[in-house]
Amino acid sequence: MERLRWGILGPGRIAPRLVRAIAASGRADLVAVASRDPGRAGAFAERHAIGRAHGSYEALLADPDVDVVYVALPNHLHAPWTVRALEAGKHVLCEKPLALSVEEVDAIAAAADRAGRLAVEAFMYLHHPQTLAVVGMARSGALGPLEIIDGSFSFTLAHPGDPRLEPAMGGGSLWDVGCYPVTLARRLAAEEPVAVQALARFDERGVDRTFAGQMLFPGGLIARFDSGFAAPDRQRVEIVGRDASLVLDAPFLVAPDGPAPSVTLVRDGIATPVPVGSTDQYRAEVDDLCAAILEGRAPRVDLAFSRGTIATLVALDGAARAAARDTTRPDDGGG
Ligand SMILES: NC(=O)c1ccc[n+]([C@@H]2O[C@H](COP(=O)([O-])OP(=O)(O)OC[C@H]3O[C@@H](n4cnc5c(N)ncnc54)[C@H](OP(=O)(O)O)[C@@H]3O)[C@@H](O)[C@H]2O)c1
Repeated sequence: MERLRWGILGPGRIAPRLVRAIAASGRADLVAVASRDPGRAGAFAERHAIGRAHGSYEALLADPDVDVVYVALPNHLHAPWTVRALEAGKHVLCEKPLALSVEEVDAIAAAADRAGRLAVEAFMYLHHPQTLAVVGMARSGALGPLEIIDGSFSFTLAHPGDPRLEPAMGGGSLWDVGCYPVTLARRLAAEEPVAVQALARFDERGVDRTFAGQMLFPGGLIARFDSGFAAPDRQRVEIVGRDASLVLDAPFLVAPDGPAPSVTLVRDGIATPVPVGSTDQYRAEVDDLCAAILEGRAPRVDLAFSRGTIATLVALDGAARAAARDTTRPDDGGG
C-alpha cells in the first residue's frame, strides 16, 4: 500500500488546515469527513471536495475505505474517540492534548498495541524545520549546558461557548496553548521534570484564563512558561545556555505560506540570525505519520512522549489549583 486514505472526525475550525495538509502530502488522500450533524458533514465535504460525508463519527469508523482517522474534536473527546478508532482498526492522528489523564494515555497505548495501529498526538510544530534545528543545536551543545527556557503562548479568546472555556471539556489555557512551551521544554531537555510549580488565574467555573508555570529537570535546567486567553497574540521562546542563547519569535504557529520564522543566536552580546527553513508544519505531521505507517518506523511524536506531556500537564494543573487554595498573600500578617 503506497497511499493512505484519511478521514476527519469533526469539521471544526482546525479541520481545514488538515484538509490542505493531506492534499499536499504525497502519500495521503482525504476520502471522508464525519460530523454529528449530516448537514454539517455534507456542507464541509462539498466545500472541500471530499468524496464521503458521514452523519456520525461511528459511521466513519465503520467505513472500510478509511485507513487513518484525524480526531479534531474538543479535548475531552480525544481519548475516547482515539480508542474507538483504534478498535475499528484505524491509525489515528489526534489533536493535542492527546488525553486529559495519564490513565487515558495508557488506555490509548493498550488499544494501539491490541490493534497493531499507531496513535499520534498532533503537535504540528514539533515537525517544523525550525523546531528540528533548535533542538539539534541545543542538544549538540552549541549553547553550552542549558540553564533556562522561557516560553509564552497566549491569545484573546472572545468566543462565548467555546469548548476551551468549558471545565467538563478539558478547557483552560494550559491544556490549549500552555502545552506548547511545556512540550518544547521537555523536547529540549530530553527528560521529564522532577518538580513543577504553578500559579493561575481561574475563572468562576475553575477554568484557567492565565497560567504561569515552571519545571525543574534532573540535569538542572529550569523551564518557565506562561499561557493565556486574556492577552493578545503572543508567542516567544528563549533558550538560554551557559555559552549562548536562542530567541524564537514564532516558535509554535508559523504561517504555512509566510516567510521562515525568525531565530536569533545571542553570543557575547552579539545577535546573529540563524537561518531555518520553513514548511507547512501540518503537512509535515501528516507526512511523518504516513511514513511511520508505510515504512514501519516510530513516529516523531510517540506515545511515551505524549504520556510525559499529559503527566506534566496534570501535575502543573494540580499545582496551580493547590496554590489557588493555599495562597499566602504578601500582606498576610502585616497588621
Ligand atoms: N494544532 C493546532 O494548530 C490546533 C489549532 C486549533 C485547535 N487545535 C485542537 O483541535 C481540536 C479542535 O479544535 P477546534 O478549534 O477545531 O474546535 P471546534 O471547532 O470548537 O470543534 C471541533 C468539532 O468538534 C465537534 N464536536 C463534537 N462534540 C462537540 C461538543 N460537545 N461541542 C462542540 N463541538 C463538538 C464539532 O463537530 P460536529 O458537531 O459537526 O460533529 C466541531 O466542529 C482541539 O482539541 C484543539 O486543541 C489544534
